[in-house]
Amino acid sequence: MTQDVYPVPAEWARTARYDQAGYERLHGRSLADPGSFWLEQAKRLDWIKRPEMAGDWSFDEADFRINWFADGKLNVAANCIDRHLASRGGDVAIIWEPDDPAEEPRRITYLELHQEVCRFANVLKAQGVKRGDRVTVYLPMIPEAAFAVLACARIGAIHSVVFGGFSPEALAGRITDCDSAVVVTADEGRRGGKRVPLKANVDAAAERAPALQTVIVVKATGGEVAMSEGRDIWYHEAAATVSADCPAEPMGAEDPLFILYTSGSTGKPKGVLHTTGGYLLWASLTHELCFDYRPGNVWWCAADIGWVTGHSYIVYGPLANGATTLMYEGLPNWPDASRIWQICDRHNVHTVFTAPTALRALMKDGDEFVTKTSRQSLKLLGTVGEPINPEAWRWYHEVVGEGRCPIIDTWWQTETGGAMIAPMPGATDLKPGSATRPMPGVDPQLVDEKGNVLHGATEGNLIITRSWPGQMRTVWGDHERFFQTYFTTYPGNYFTGDGCRRDEDGYYWITGRVDDVINVSGHRMGTAEVESALVLHPKVAEAAVVGMPHEVKGQGIYAYVTLNAGCAADDALRAELVKWVRTEIGPIATPDAVQFAPGLPKTRSGKIMRRILRKIAEGDVSSLGDTSTLADPGVVDDLVANRVS
Ligand code: WTA
Repeated sequence: MTQDVYPVPAEWARTARYDQAGYERLHGRSLADPGSFWLEQAKRLDWIKRPEMAGDWSFDEADFRINWFADGKLNVAANCIDRHLASRGGDVAIIWEPDDPAEEPRRITYLELHQEVCRFANVLKAQGVKRGDRVTVYLPMIPEAAFAVLACARIGAIHSVVFGGFSPEALAGRITDCDSAVVVTADEGRRGGKRVPLKANVDAAAERAPALQTVIVVKATGGEVAMSEGRDIWYHEAAATVSADCPAEPMGAEDPLFILYTSGSTGKPKGVLHTTGGYLLWASLTHELCFDYRPGNVWWCAADIGWVTGHSYIVYGPLANGATTLMYEGLPNWPDASRIWQICDRHNVHTVFTAPTALRALMKDGDEFVTKTSRQSLKLLGTVGEPINPEAWRWYHEVVGEGRCPIIDTWWQTETGGAMIAPMPGATDLKPGSATRPMPGVDPQLVDEKGNVLHGATEGNLIITRSWPGQMRTVWGDHERFFQTYFTTYPGNYFTGDGCRRDEDGYYWITGRVDDVINVSGHRMGTAEVESALVLHPKVAEAAVVGMPHEVKGQGIYAYVTLNAGCAADDALRAELVKWVRTEIGPIATPDAVQFAPGLPKTRSGKIMRRILRKIAEGDVSSLGDTSTLADPGVVDDLVANRVS
C-alpha cells in the first residue's frame, strides 16, 4: 500500500473556500451541533417555506425514521433553474456534446432551460401525470434527459431513470415495480457511432409491463420506429401544443423526488428512493465542497444519467449551484482515445469527473492520445464508482493533469445521494487510492464482523453512525427491506456493504464490497441477478456468479454453471449463455468467463460456498481454506482443473 502524499498545491490552499483548518472546523461543527449546522446549510437552497427543523431520525428498529427539514417546502426545479434567472439567465446551463465530433454542440442557457423544462412538464401534465405519479425515463444522453427529470421535479412527479443499456426485460421489471404508467424514451440512442434501439426496447418491455399506458418519444436520431396508436406520442408534436410556462409545485422536503434502481446482494434490484430537500442540499453542497465549484467554471461529469452519479452531478448538484454542466452523448474513447481530452479542450472544461475503469482503458491506449491535446483549462480531476488503483491515479495526476490538478476521489453510493468520503482541493493532502476523509455530517466507523467498533489505524466493515441529509429514505414499496438491508447487520448504524481500511492519518481506503455485489466497470451488479438470469435458460440447472479481477473493468463477472442432464457443455452453449444474460439484463451484465461445473461446492445444508468460488475465479487456488465441511469435497478439484482463465 502506497504512503505517498501529494500536498495541497499552494494555489489551491490560498484560493479555495476551505483550507485544512477550515475543513476541520466545518466537520467538527457538523458533528458537534448538527441541528444548527444543517439549518444554516439549508440556506443554500431557495425555500418556499424555510425549515425550522433539521434532522429527525433514528436507526433503531423501535422508532426507525429518517427525516430532514421535514417542515420545509421547496421545489427542486425552481432551485435548479428559476432562482438563477434574474442573475444569470443568459449563462449556459447545459453544454451538450454530441456523439459524433463533427456535429455541433448545443448550448442551453438557464432561460432556455426554463422554457424547455416547463414545456416538458406541460406535456407530462397533458398526459395525465400528477404529483406523486411515477414516470420512467429511458433516454440516451441528450438534453431531453435533463429536461424530463427536471420536468418531473417541477410538477412533483417521481422519476425513475433506467439506464439505456438495460434490456427490455430489465426495463419492464422496473416499470412494473414502481407502477409507472408513462415512459419517456427516444427513437434511438447513439454511442460510439452505434445506434441503440430504445423505442423498440420499450415496445418489447411493454408486452411485459401492463402498467404502461403512455410512451412519449423524443425524436433523437430520426431513425424509423413503430408508433402504437393510442399509446405512443411524439414529444415534439405534443410540445408544440403546450405553453412554455408551468408553475413549480410546492413540495414538502420529504416528498419523493426520484426512484433509482440499484443492485443489492439478494433478489431483484431495489428502488432506492430519494426525497426533495435533503437530497438536493446534499448534491449541491458536496458538489461545491469537493470541487470548490465557482461560477464560470465548466463542469463535466462524464457519467450516464442512468446512474446516481449522473443524477447528482450532471443535473441536480451543478444546476442547483448555477453551474455550466457538460453532458456528453457518447463514449470517452470514441472515435479514439483522445476524445475525452478533446472535449475538455473544446469546451474549456475546468473539472472532469469520471470512473477509474475509463481511465484504465484510456491508459492502455497510450499517453500520446492525451499529450497531443492541450488540457490547459483543466484544474481538477475527479473519480468515482470503484476503488482507483494507485497506478491509474498517478497516470491521471501526472499524464492528464501534468501534476497540477488535485485528484478528487469520491466514495459514495446510490443510497447516499452524493459524496460521503472525499477530499476538498484546498484542504486535503492526497494519497493515491484513498478517498481521504469524510464530508461534513458524515461519521464513518469501522467495525469487525461482530460489530465491535475498531479504533485507530485498522481495517473492517464501513458503517455510518448517523443520518445525513442525502440518505435514501426507503426502498420503493418495501420499507421493511430497506430496514433489513441496511440497519440490521450492525444495529443502530447504516451498513454500507463496503470493506475499508483507515490509516494512521485517519484516511479511509475503500477496499471493495464485502457482500455479493460486484462492481463491473464502475457499475453495480448483484451476483444474484446474473444467477437468476442464467437459471432461466432451459439448459441450466444451477448457477453461481462471483467477481474476478479484471484489468480494465476492475471486476469481471465469472459464472459457474451446472447444466441439466444430457446437455452438452461446449463453446456454442457458452456463447449462447453470454448472449442470454445480455438479453435478460443488458450488456453491462455480460459474463467474462463461463465455467461449466458438474457440481458446485456446497455445505451439507446446501449453501454454496462462495468463498471457494471466488478464490478459484481469482486464480488463487493455493489457499482454498477448509473444504472438509463440504458435502462433496471432490467437486473442488474439478473446479480447479477446469478453471477458465
Ligand atoms: C463503490 C456510485 C472505492 C463502493 C456512486 C460502493 C467506490 C459502490 C468509490 C456504490 C470510490 C463508489 N472508491 N469504491 N471512490 N465510489 N465505490 O451505488 O463499493 O453505483 O459501495 O454508486 O461503488 O456504487 P453505486
